[in-house]
Amino acid sequence: MERELSLEFVRVTEAAALSSGRWMGRGNKEAADQAAVDAMRAVFDTVNINGTVVIGEGEKDEAPMLYIGEKVGTGSEPVVDVAVDPLEGTNLVAKGLPNALAVLAIAPKGCLLKAPDIFYMNKIAVGPQARGCIELDATVEDNLKAVAKAKKREISDLTAIILERPRHEKLMAEIRAAGARVKLISDGDVSAAIATAIDYSGVDILFGIGGAPEGVLAAAALKILGGDMQARLVPRETGAAAQRQRTDQQSLSRLLQLDDLAKGEDLFFAATGITDGDMLDGVRYRGKTAETHSLVMRGVTGTIRNVRATHTLARKPHFVSRDAECRLKNN
Ligand code: FBP
Repeated sequence: MERELSLEFVRVTEAAALSSGRWMGRGNKEAADQAAVDAMRAVFDTVNINGTVVIGEGEKDEAPMLYIGEKVGTGSEPVVDVAVDPLEGTNLVAKGLPNALAVLAIAPKGCLLKAPDIFYMNKIAVGPQARGCIELDATVEDNLKAVAKAKKREISDLTAIILERPRHEKLMAEIRAAGARVKLISDGDVSAAIATAIDYSGVDILFGIGGAPEGVLAAAALKILGGDMQARLVPRETGAAAQRQRTDQQSLSRLLQLDDLAKGEDLFFAATGITDGDMLDGVRYRGKTAETHSLVMRGVTGTIRNVRATHTLARKPHFVSRDAECRLKNN
């Protein structure tokens, strides 16, 4: 994939962030997500790729846009697989909380794991200094010892990041018992995984179960950043698809290495901040213009670009939901 695509991909995440950011703090995660999807889909049509969505908004019958199998791009070479999360952290935007992102990863056909959102994924992730030191099947204490050794620190110096969920009570207790500090997050384990590879984030390791699609997106970023990740698909406990997914025992038991999640080096990863976060600033609206902050990375060269852009806004955005509009009119 040519280097020029970097800028094209960042335009896609910028569009999603610009649109979705209007919904920050309005308590409507569905509208925030829809805005991101619509904008991302529209800009994808202008990108010179022959892309197929492998990680997206869901199966064709569930998602009208950016569904798994959907073709995106102008149809010209290169032929690529596309992983998207137009809004990673729907609750974060709805509540105005940090670290909501618009993200995508692109790889040559067949290089991204097809991990549908009917699955969770048990993940462990670290940055470059601890690459090769983690093992999903080892104990929490052993992993922390290995990371501490690789980083020439004590376990008590380490911070583990983990989604705050009842399913993580035991894991949290084990991390604390081993002596590490714990940073709990309400949502957004893509940015949490990436944080392990960013020195100034103060985060050393990610543990725990989160979305499977998010795992593939995080893996693409960590691959480029020189970090490491292992994972295993886990059935979701509830929902109509629970039975269906349990039938595929083979893919559930398989230990996935970083290369199984995102193969090779020819990868692109782009993310734009929607709300302010540890890594990226959120969208700033300034009347006729808006500013975005993005990160775009290319695996072949390892180039990481911080992109700050000022956008001229064409017209007033529509950010009041139809329901709210009716209520306002009727009052
Ligand atoms: P959404 O953007 O789809 O709301 O996902 C947010 C998220 O926190 C992910 O970052 C994470 O992987 C997943 O949800 C965890 O799922 P759950 O909320 O079911 O524990």
